[in-house]
Amino acid sequence: MTAQETPPPLPNHSARSEAAHSKATNTKAKFTTVRDELNQSLAGHQKLIERLLVAIITGGHVLIEGSPGLAKTRTVNQFAQLLDAAFARVQATPDLLPADLTGTNIYQQHTGTFNFVAGPLFNNIILFDEINRAPPKVQSALLEAMGEKQITAAGKTYLLQSPFMVVATQNPIEHEGTYPLPEAQLDRFMFFVDVAMPTPELEHQILDIVLSESQIVSGNNPVTTIHAVLNADDIQAAGQTASTVFISDAVKDYIVRLVTATRGYGNAGDEARAVEHAASPRGSIFLARAAQARAWLNDRDHITPEDIQVLAPDILSGRIILNYHAQARGITARQVVHRILEHTAVV
Ligand SMILES: Nc1ncnc2c1ncn2[C@@H]1O[C@H](COP(=O)(O)OP(=O)(O)OP(=O)(O)O)[C@@H](O)[C@H]1O
Ligand SMILES: [Mg+2]
Repeated sequence: MTAQETPPPLPNHSARSEAAHSKATNTKAKFTTVRDELNQSLAGHQKLIERLLVAIITGGHVLIEGSPGLAKTRTVNQFAQLLDAAFARVQATPDLLPADLTGTNIYQQHTGTFNFVAGPLFNNIILFDEINRAPPKVQSALLEAMGEKQITAAGKTYLLQSPFMVVATQNPIEHEGTYPLPEAQLDRFMFFVDVAMPTPELEHQILDIVLSESQIVSGNNPVTTIHAVLNADDIQAAGQTASTVFISDAVKDYIVRLVTATRGYGNAGDEARAVEHAASPRGSIFLARAAQARAWLNDRDHITPEDIQVLAPDILSGRIILNYHAQARGITARQVVHRILEHTAVV
C-alpha cells in the first residue's frame, strides 16, 4: 500500500445520500466564504485562519504565540463574527480568579436567593489573552472546560455550549510575572500557531486594509457589520462529514511513526534525544482528526501525507518539551519536529 492509495469506492447513491451530499456541499461553500472573507481582511494569516477552521470543525483549541500587534485579537474577533457564535474575550492577569471565568453565585437582594451568573466560559468562542499571566488555579479551571466541555462552579457542574473553542494567546518575549502552562494544560490544545512579524510586502497590505476602513474604530473592530455565515448546525455537520474522510493504513502508520519518533522510536534518534517529554496519543489523534478536516476543507475525500506534513509542526511542537541541553543550545521544539519530519519516511 502506498500513502497515496485511493479511497474505497463509494456506496451506491440513494436519494437520501444525494440530499446529504448537497447539504454537505452547501456547508462547505459556507466554510469557503468564511475563509475568503477572513483572508481579505487579514494580510498573511492564511495559516492561522486554516487552523481556526480546522479547530472549530474538530472541536479543538488553539494557542497562538506572537508579539503584540500582529492582529491576533482582530483575527479571532472576526472569526467569531462570521460564525453565529457568542464570543468573549478575557485578559489574563495575576489576580484573576477561577470564578471570573466560570461564573459565580450572586446574592439577589430582592428575592433573598443566590442566582448563578454565568462567566465568559459559557460562550462559544473564548479568546483568552496572555494565558500565561493567569495563576495556576485559573489555568486549571480552563483545563477542565477545554478537556471535558463542562465546568464546576459554586459546587455544581454545568455543560458548556457547542461549539466551544478556546483560543489563547501567549507573548513569546515577556516571561516576567508569568506562570508557564503545565504540560497537562498544553496537551489539551490542538494547535500551537506561531504568528510572525510581517514582511515589507505584507506591511503594505496591512496599511491598505486598515486605511480603507472607516476611521471610526472601536478597539480593533472597524465599524462595519460582519454577517454571520456559519451556525452551530453547519459546524456540527462539517465535523460529522470530516470524520468520514478516508485515512489509509499507510497514512495512519506515517502518523504513528512521526508521533512515536518523539519517544525515541524509528530513525529520528538524534532528534529524539533532545526530547525530555514526548507527545502523548493526543498528538496522533489530533493529527488524524485535523488532517481529515483539512482534507475536507480542500475538497478531498481522503488524507494525503502532505496534510500530515503541513499540520505536524503546529500540532506536535507544543506537546514536546526539550531537555536542558537542547534548550541551552537554543534548539526549539518546532525545529525538532521539522527534523523528525525530514528523517521519517512517508511510506
Ligand atoms: N496581518 C494583519 N492584517 C490586517 N490588520 C493587521 C494585521 N496585523 C496587524 N493589523 C492591524 O494592527 C492592529 C493591531 O491588531 P490586534 O489588536 O488584533 O493585535 P494583537 O495581536 O491582538 O495585539 P496584542 O497582542 O497587543 O493584543 C489592528 O488595527 C489590526 O487591524
Ligand atoms: Mg490582542
